[in-house]
Amino acid sequence: MTQVSSLYLHVPFCVHLCNYCDFYKRKLDSSLNQFEEFHQFLLASDLRHDELLKEFGTEWGPLDTVYLGGGTPSLWEAVGAEFFQKHFLKKGLTPNPEFTIEIDPGTWTPKMLNAWKSIGLNRISVGTQSLNPTFLKIMDRVHSLEDSLNFLQVLKDENWNYSLDFLLGIPYSQEQKRDIKAELDLLLKYSPKHISLYILNARSKYPHIQKLPDDEYIREEYLLVSEYLKSQGFHHYEVSNFALPGFESRHNLKYWRGESVMALGPTGTGYFALGEKQALRYKWKVTQAEVELEKLGEQELNLEQIYLSLRISDGWRVPEKYRCLIENWTKQGYCMEEGPKVKLTSLGFLMLDSLMDDLFRVK
Ligand SMILES: C[S@@+](CC[C@H](N)C(=O)[O-])C[C@H]1O[C@@H](n2cnc3c(N)ncnc32)[C@H](O)[C@@H]1O
Ligand code: SF4
Repeated sequence: MTQVSSLYLHVPFCVHLCNYCDFYKRKLDSSLNQFEEFHQFLLASDLRHDELLKEFGTEWGPLDTVYLGGGTPSLWEAVGAEFFQKHFLKKGLTPNPEFTIEIDPGTWTPKMLNAWKSIGLNRISVGTQSLNPTFLKIMDRVHSLEDSLNFLQVLKDENWNYSLDFLLGIPYSQEQKRDIKAELDLLLKYSPKHISLYILNARSKYPHIQKLPDDEYIREEYLLVSEYLKSQGFHHYEVSNFALPGFESRHNLKYWRGESVMALGPTGTGYFALGEKQALRYKWKVTQAEVELEKLGEQELNLEQIYLSLRISDGWRVPEKYRCLIENWTKQGYCMEEGPKVKLTSLGFLMLDSLMDDLFRVK
């Protein structure tokens, strides 16, 4: 039996549903027994999950990486820590685990933080989005800049290993000349170890759809942030992620390196690597403790492996038939060669989807 040592758990509640958000979540309503129902859902899912593990020759090992995503997992509070420990730390943690929780500024309490810390939490991901009050409002966030800065100060004072989410492509940012560098200078004062940089992905019904910046503006923002963070010692190690050396997200690197990660919670997506030529992806349904299964064969895995290895700074060992294409990419500044591997530059990361289209056209 192969042991799986990583777990993602999706906590689908938020105090407010931000109008741009794509993730599965429900509004938290204290008059309902939402967390009790969630616990029942997780317990039923866990039974189904055990069957799945067994069916695919795998088993739950001591956890080396844990990631609680959302939604807003910090709303699960101390009750969540107790429930999680009782049911999901049954095999314990490895001696040096990475255990992350996503926290929205304004949704944490010292009690909640201490409860999770006491069961192994050692990394926090904070949904800051912007450090400008005008853009926080435009992004429909309920927390204020003060909420963010107060929380960041606590994290700095307590020397937490933490990551920040930062959003680009915000409506009105082009016409109001958003000062990205001033925001970065402010956030760097709080000593984050890791920064996730997202570009707003807006659906057609998004209320500010007419006020989004143009592609050229977003490209400049992205390259500015990348160059600036690199000048401050951060490593651009994945399309949307920057870290100080040694602080890369070990959990997310498992996905990007095609390693097994278990998942629980509605829409949580897990992956079992089943040798060189097969893998299984499963995604939890939202109303039933049941999964949708996707089996990946050799061909799909090969394509996925190319895509994933270009996405991270590990790089891709290029087969001979793509030589011409790589020379072309290098001339355009999209990649560089390091020994037998090709690694994308920050510009290449931004162009990843169109580079993949180039690759598919090579016969
Ligand atoms: C699931 S959220 C969790 C964190 C927490 N609930 C919060 O918002 O701070 C993870 C990140 O995804 C980002 N996100 C959500 N919808 C997005 C979209 N449509 N485009 C780009 N980023 C998005 C959020 O801004 C957030 O930083
Ligand atoms: S708080 Fe986070 S998860 Fe919830 S709606 Fe806003 S962006 Fe989405």
